[in-house]
Parts: sequence; structure tokens; C-alpha cells
Amino acid sequence: MQTAIFYVSKHGTTEKTALKIRHGIGVANTQLFNLRNSSFIDLSPFKQIIIGGSIHAGMIQNCIKDFCIKNSAILLEKRLGLFISCFYEGETAQSQLEKAYPEILRKHAVSCKIMGGEMLMESMNFFEKIIVKKVAGIKQSESRINQENIETFINEMSIPKHRDQTK
Ligand SMILES: Cc1cc2nc3c(=O)[nH]c(=O)nc-3n(C[C@H](O)[C@H](O)[C@H](O)COP(=O)(O)O)c2cc1C
Repeated sequence: MQTAIFYVSKHGTTEKTALKIRHGIGVANTQLFNLRNSSFIDLSPFKQIIIGGSIHAGMIQNCIKDFCIKNSAILLEKRLGLFISCFYEGETAQSQLEKAYPEILRKHAVSCKIMGGEMLMESMNFFEKIIVKKVAGIKQSESRINQENIETFINEMSIPKHRDQTK
């Protein structure tokens, strides 16, 4: 198996992005792991690792942070891709990305991207609806998925054929 994608998703957006990436780089060679349901996973058989989480109240999920810290040595030996889902754009999104992953992993990554996000009112609980209305002025569902960044990420994470044959 070539690629493992580890993700966490609260309302499904990061999961959809992870599925698009899996489809883009090749379903047959890619395994998907929801970090919420996975216990120990041996990373050694994988040639490349992709990690994605989403931003809530400025932070990525703790299990993504823990996964990066626990596995940092082996992640530095792999082809690595990192991404976040988030609704804000521009400098705010960039600083959220920088806070989400350790600098050493961001520098090592082949690709590190902001994939945009969705505000899905129908998936939010009462408190989340109040927060997004108050903080971001969102009253109805809205999508800001960055399809271009998803496609660039897929291109950058696609293992070139000649390297593929070395294994
Ligand atoms: C309660 C709440 C807080 C959020 N806080 C932020 C935030 O601080 N910054 C941001 O860019 N997006 C924020 N978002 C938007 C999410 O990042 C966006 O909905 C993303 O698509 C969620 O992905 P997921 O469904 O995979 O968890 C927030 C969304 C909710 C519901």
C-alpha cells in the first residue's frame, strides 16, 4: 500500500476532502483512516502519509496534534502531505494552518494546503449555530471549498510512476 490518509472530521467536510484526495491519487493504493475510530496503526508499510483535520475556534482537533507529535520521527521519513479544512480565508487561514501542524512537519511536507470549508447549519447543534451566527455572521449553510487547492494537492501528492517502480 502506497498511501495512508489520516483525518478527523466533525461535520463531514474533511472526510469528503479526504475521499476526493483518495480518489484523485488512486483508490487501489490508498487507505483511509478516521483517527477517531483508529487505535494503533503501523505507519512503516506506507510510502506516503497524508494528514487532515478541521479548524474549530481557531484550533485543529487534539487527536491530529497528538498523532503528529507521537509519530513525528517516522513522519519525517515519509513523503508527507498536510491539510486543513477551515472557513476563513487569507491570513487568518494561513495562521490557523501554521498553528495546526508543527513547523518541522510543515517544512518537510511535499504539500501543505488550506482546502476551505463548509458551514452546514443542518449538522450543527444549538450552541454551534449561535457561535457561527455571532462570530462569523453565518445564518445559513455556505460552502467555501477550495477545489483548486484540492486539485493542486492531489497533483503534488501523486507519486511519479518512475518512483513507484522502485519498490
Ligand atoms: C462551532 C464552529 C466553529 C468554527 N470555528 C472556525 C474557526 O475558528 N476558523 C475557521 O476558519 N473555521 C471555523 N469553522 C468552520 C469549520 O472549519 C468548517 O465548518 C469545516 O468545513 C469543518 O470541517 P469538518 O466538518 O470536517 O469538521 C467553525 C465551524 C463551527 C461549526
